[in-house]
Amino acid sequence: MAKVRIDYACTSCGFSSPKWLGRCPDCGKWGSIVEEVAPAEPKYRVAVDAFPASKPVRLTEVSGSAEVRAKTGIGEFDRVMGGGVVPSSATLIGGDPGIGKSTILLQAAKGLAREGKPVLYVSGEESEAQVKLRAARLGVDEKEIYLLSETSVERVMAIAAEMAPSALLIDSIQTMFTSDLPGAPGSVGQVRECAGRLVFFGKKAGMSVFLVGHVTKEGTIAGPRVLEHLVDTVLYFEGEKGHPYRILKAVKNRFGSTNEIGVFEMRSSGLAEVADPSGLFLSERGEDASGTVVFPAIEGTRPLLVEVQALASQSFLAMPRRTTLGADTNRVILLCAILERKAGLSLYNQDVFVNVAGGIELDETAADLAILCSVASSFKDQVIPAGTAAFGEVGLGGEVRAVPMAEPRLNEAARMGFTRVILPASNAERLSSKYPLTLVPVRHIKEALAQAWKK
Ligand SMILES: Nc1ncnc2c1ncn2[C@@H]1O[C@H](COP(=O)(O)OP(=O)(O)OP(=O)(O)O)[C@@H](O)[C@H]1O
Ligand SMILES: [Mg+2]
Repeated sequence: MAKVRIDYACTSCGFSSPKWLGRCPDCGKWGSIVEEVAPAEPKYRVAVDAFPASKPVRLTEVSGSAEVRAKTGIGEFDRVMGGGVVPSSATLIGGDPGIGKSTILLQAAKGLAREGKPVLYVSGEESEAQVKLRAARLGVDEKEIYLLSETSVERVMAIAAEMAPSALLIDSIQTMFTSDLPGAPGSVGQVRECAGRLVFFGKKAGMSVFLVGHVTKEGTIAGPRVLEHLVDTVLYFEGEKGHPYRILKAVKNRFGSTNEIGVFEMRSSGLAEVADPSGLFLSERGEDASGTVVFPAIEGTRPLLVEVQALASQSFLAMPRRTTLGADTNRVILLCAILERKAGLSLYNQDVFVNVAGGIELDETAADLAILCSVASSFKDQVIPAGTAAFGEVGLGGEVRAVPMAEPRLNEAARMGFTRVILPASNAERLSSKYPLTLVPVRHIKEALAQAWKK
């Protein structure tokens, strides 16, 4: 027999609670909370029962094994997704308020609608007229895009089940609610439950689901981290205040690489792809300043040149500071210690600041040599020539070790007009082709520093 669940709700404001309270915490009224018998069978079962029960199937007999990804037509977006949108997949797009989540979703809808099947864009935050206003600005006028201003998950699923769109876009998951659960939209329980139901529904009904999630002050997608486990792909949309550039990162991807990034520029006509991000990240580079060197990074499958900047200045603190932006602080502390012991630089009374320009996060050990060279350059006030790039991992003995993907890094440096690259000797020995660059192979950081400021 089904259990009868008892909930309590406020007769004045509708606040619901799992236990009885004398005073409603929401509207402040006394004695307004009354007993309410919750439905024994949650309503969403209806949605689940709409699909036949699953049966075990042989792996070899599962149909649709050939991967057919839907393209949004936004090259950078498709690449970050791992080559397009996998049918029936669930994607979460997180980002700060106003960063452009609705914009990219609408632009993606345009591409998906071009395949001929309907795309359902559900907005819980804006009216149809407001979405239309944005769509007109972005030049999105596909007939197959349907707008729905709705916040009830049950109604959204009922409409989607009838319409059978190829993609269901929810903007945002924090505005959705289910009447089966107590709590206001945006509360942890509601967000998790609504996301869970929509993802399950999408997989069963064969539509790809996109959820927009707001980011909290702490930087996680509001509601719970569990949301990240529910979906197949988690994308973060980031950008620096005052800059028109936006970076789309895959934090989790069941169908592709997670280091992939896409770079966009926010314009009045929408988000435009930046085809040459290396050029963008180097565009504001000062030519003859000390404490900077370029590092050919690998982001996902793509090389990207970024500028590593360092500043060493005399410290008046008992414990000198090591502050980093875009680089791992522990790694910088380690590199400073190596510089001190193995290259004889007295950094013990220096505050060291390391910054990676353009808001890029470096998580490769291949950045060691570039960070080390820029710190030494700032400390000695020696300029590393502008056409120089450096990469390589540095060990505790001061030895410079080989790193993966040396060739794409060199190709990108050559393409961007760099003339000299300091790299690990063991990488240089294994190169299969010639590059129009002066290669400076090094085995130890002392060799690297001796070569760094040479013209
Ligand atoms: N006319 C315009 N010209 C240029 N940029 C614009 C224009 N209108 C809006 N924008 C840009 O679009 C951004 C808002 O985009 P969007 O509404 O997609 O963000 P969002 O992440 O969905 O925001 P929210 O969290 O409020 O839903 C603004 O911050 C602004 O940078
Ligand atoms: Mg929005």
